[in-house]
Amino acid sequence: MSRDSKFDFDDNTQLMRLIKQDRTVNTVIGDIIPPSIDPSKVESILDLGCGPGGWSLKVGIAYPKTHVMGVDNSELMIRYSQAQAQIQKTSNVEFRLMDVLQWPMDFPDDSFDLIYGRFLVSFVQPAMWVGLLMECWRLLKPGGTICLTEFEIAVSNNATLDKVQNWIVRVLHHMGLGFSQHHIAIAPVMRRYLKEAGYIAPQYFPYVIDWSSENIEIHEEQVINLITVLHIMKGRIMMLLNVTEEEFERSVGQIREEVEHDDFCSLTTIYSIVGVKPEI
Ligand SMILES: C[S@@+](CC[C@H](N)C(=O)[O-])C[C@H]1O[C@@H](n2cnc3c(N)ncnc32)[C@H](O)[C@@H]1O
Repeated sequence: MSRDSKFDFDDNTQLMRLIKQDRTVNTVIGDIIPPSIDPSKVESILDLGCGPGGWSLKVGIAYPKTHVMGVDNSELMIRYSQAQAQIQKTSNVEFRLMDVLQWPMDFPDDSFDLIYGRFLVSFVQPAMWVGLLMECWRLLKPGGTICLTEFEIAVSNNATLDKVQNWIVRVLHHMGLGFSQHHIAIAPVMRRYLKEAGYIAPQYFPYVIDWSSENIEIHEEQVINLITVLHIMKGRIMMLLNVTEEEFERSVGQIREEVEHDDFCSLTTIYSIVGVKPEI
């Protein structure tokens, strides 16, 4: 993947953002693995683009007999994840530096019962998806499951939020990421991609983050997440969308203030999309 399709961000800022986001998402989703999967049949799991390793560690702690392998191409994420695995004494969870878009990945055929990937839309371009799903097919045991968890931008009653989220979607679009200029739109497409790659029984599990102002804790976390993402993307928003620094700062100031109003209501949807590699 070209360097251009990655964000210009301070790695530590991104690490801290992902750690906080992991907590919110785990709380909202509740099920560590989708309810269609029988955990007693899962001996080995691969977590693609594992970031700070929050999901891998959580599933490893819940199922200590299951081996969990988290991979990411960021040294910082892997170092942090490995340190967390040591601190939390999770000897069944391992982390390795790996580019998940360089195929074949360094695992033999039929290695995993479950392959998980969360928020991969941030770096997998549409043209790469079917190839990635086919590589996962190779790595899955017959009867194994792939589970992708992705999100859609928030629906709210605030016009400034609409505007800044549209900046985010359009920057992603410029970078060749996402599936529409108005939404992320990965969830509706993914079912077709799973079928194209040969998976059966594709299923959606939707979850909702209600971060309306009255939902104080989640609201604050989501607002900080949004503002951080906007700052991570600031250079590209200004350069690619011709937004001046003054307009950027004014809009960020406005959104900070408006989301605190009592009547602010907003829902973000997260989807887990599951497909099964048939038994031979
Ligand atoms: C949006 S974060 C999601 C992290 C994690 N899945 C989570 O939900 O917390 C995307 C992650 O993918 C990693 N990444 C980006 N490109 C990658 C690649 N080609 N191969 C492996 N990991 C990659 C990034 O370093 C980052 O940690």
